[in-house]
Amino acid sequence: MTKTLLLLPGDGIGPEVTAISRQIVERLNASDGLGVAIAEAPFGGAAIDLTGFPLADETVAQALGSTAVLMGAVGGPQWAGLPYDRRPEAGLLRLRSAMEVFANLRPAICFPALADASSLKRELVEGLDILFVRELTGGVYFGEPRGIEDLGNGEKRGVNTQVYTSSEIRRVARVAFELAAKRSGRVCSAEKSNVMESGLLWRQEVQALRDAEYPHIELSHMLADNTAMQLVKYPKQFDVILTDNLFGDILSDEAGMLTGSLGMLPSAALGVAGKPGLYEPIHGSAPDIAGQGLANPCASVLSLAMALRYSFDRADLADRVEAAVSATLDAGVRTRDLGGSAGTAAMGAAILGRL
Ligand code: IPM
Ligand code: MG
Repeated sequence: MTKTLLLLPGDGIGPEVTAISRQIVERLNASDGLGVAIAEAPFGGAAIDLTGFPLADETVAQALGSTAVLMGAVGGPQWAGLPYDRRPEAGLLRLRSAMEVFANLRPAICFPALADASSLKRELVEGLDILFVRELTGGVYFGEPRGIEDLGNGEKRGVNTQVYTSSEIRRVARVAFELAAKRSGRVCSAEKSNVMESGLLWRQEVQALRDAEYPHIELSHMLADNTAMQLVKYPKQFDVILTDNLFGDILSDEAGMLTGSLGMLPSAALGVAGKPGLYEPIHGSAPDIAGQGLANPCASVLSLAMALRYSFDRADLADRVEAAVSATLDAGVRTRDLGGSAGTAAMGAAILGRL
């Protein structure tokens, strides 16, 4: 076996949902000759408890040497008091950065069976299929200077920097245009060019790239606050939404609720062609339900499907996994977040049974 999948289960519900994805890989190895070797490493809070650090150098090396990485979730209240650079979340940011996965694909698809699970009316979300392309390795998440400074007079000052270069903007915009060309051909780019210079540059560079190389793409620009509003007003107006790291984080959570549950949303973080991709559910570690076997494994399973599609070159198996999730929902098997009573294991078994 030359292809490897590195599992980073992480914290909270991460290990529970990742275990279901592992079962699916094992099944596809046996039934379809997938030929993917599975490795696993501690990550996030789980790694902090073992070593004091959320991401070991060996784990970074292991990730870079894998075909793909599937992450569970990171974080939890027990690590929230640590300094920023020692927190579980810092491990995830360092991993994204080390893997140079600058383009984060976050599909928000409303499965037919879940149109009534959304907090929006059925007619607004039925058939919804939006693809977010979120910049993932730049912007305010990584900009310098950053920190909390003591001003010495009883005051402190917290600083973060939103910064983007032309090439950082263009490489992620290119991904959005390429993907849009295979869909509706429409891209909406969201920023705050009315108040931020980095947003103005974003708008200019995205437009310039479209004009120079993608004249067949229909590009529109929207202020990010308006995008948030339009997403709940009439979400089906969107196809591909291109946006920066912070707005993409916020808007994709919002879109998650349009689909019925954040527990349904997968993601793929891609970088340079031929390098490993990083796949992760959009949801967090959900400490409130962790360890109870209640978590919805769909986002992890659908993230695995994205890995099959983008890293393992098995679109056929990706289609089958997605169809199995859809058929499971159609059959009425649902976890608590979807208004049902199935546990993680039952949901996983139902998906496996339909593969
Ligand atoms: C996400 C998460 C992460 C982010 C956290 C856990 C660092 O919210 O992937 O959406 O903010 O990017
Ligand atoms: Mg988020």
